[in-house]
Amino acid sequence: MNSTRIFLIGFMGSGKSSVGKELAKLLKFKFIDLDEVIEKSEKKSIASIFSEFGEQRFRKIEQAALVNQLQNEKIVVATGGGSATFENNIEVMNVSGVTVYLDAHPGTLFHRLAPEKSSRPLIATKGDIDLMEYIIDKLDERIPFYNKAQLKVDAGGSIREVARNIEIQLHNQK
Ligand code: ADP
Ligand code: S3P
Repeated sequence: MNSTRIFLIGFMGSGKSSVGKELAKLLKFKFIDLDEVIEKSEKKSIASIFSEFGEQRFRKIEQAALVNQLQNEKIVVATGGGSATFENNIEVMNVSGVTVYLDAHPGTLFHRLAPEKSSRPLIATKGDIDLMEYIIDKLDERIPFYNKAQLKVDAGGSIREVARNIEIQLHNQK
């Protein structure tokens, strides 16, 4: 496995961005948030890209942003919740680095996402019941892709604990 590129994958709210920043500090790697890369290159928010161009176009932009990262080494990439589920993105990540699935229970995801839905276009307008239903259904659909990750970590601990657990797993698989 090529451990100079770490790709964090998992559902919205699983902690890819928060844990990714912490992990990058531990490893002394650069942290890259794929959503932020896209917002900078498109000069639009993720929400505007969805509303103006639609999800399919977003996925293509996201894929190009992901492939662009392969020029870099010593990076921790927080992917978007759908990145690993589009076309061959997970296979590309698996051959170019180490993929880590942040595995979180639907209830945990709900509690983290409910207060900050607005920046995430796929859930922005959902009430509590719809949000819970969406998390359960979408997670079910995406789990087969997330399970293709090389490593899996329980995303239910503190941000520091999750980052440290990933660091240990990376060390053990060397
Ligand atoms: P993602 O990038 O996977 O969508 P974020 O890192 O943006 O997830 O986290 C979503 C929210 O959940 C944020 O408010 C963040 O502070 C919180 N959070 C993430 N991971 C944890 C954790 N392990 N424990 C507690 N809160 C967390
Ligand atoms: C998405 C997750 C988001 C962002 C976009 C679509 C998804 O990223 O890429 O809103 O399809 O699950 P986060 O997982 O960082 O919230």
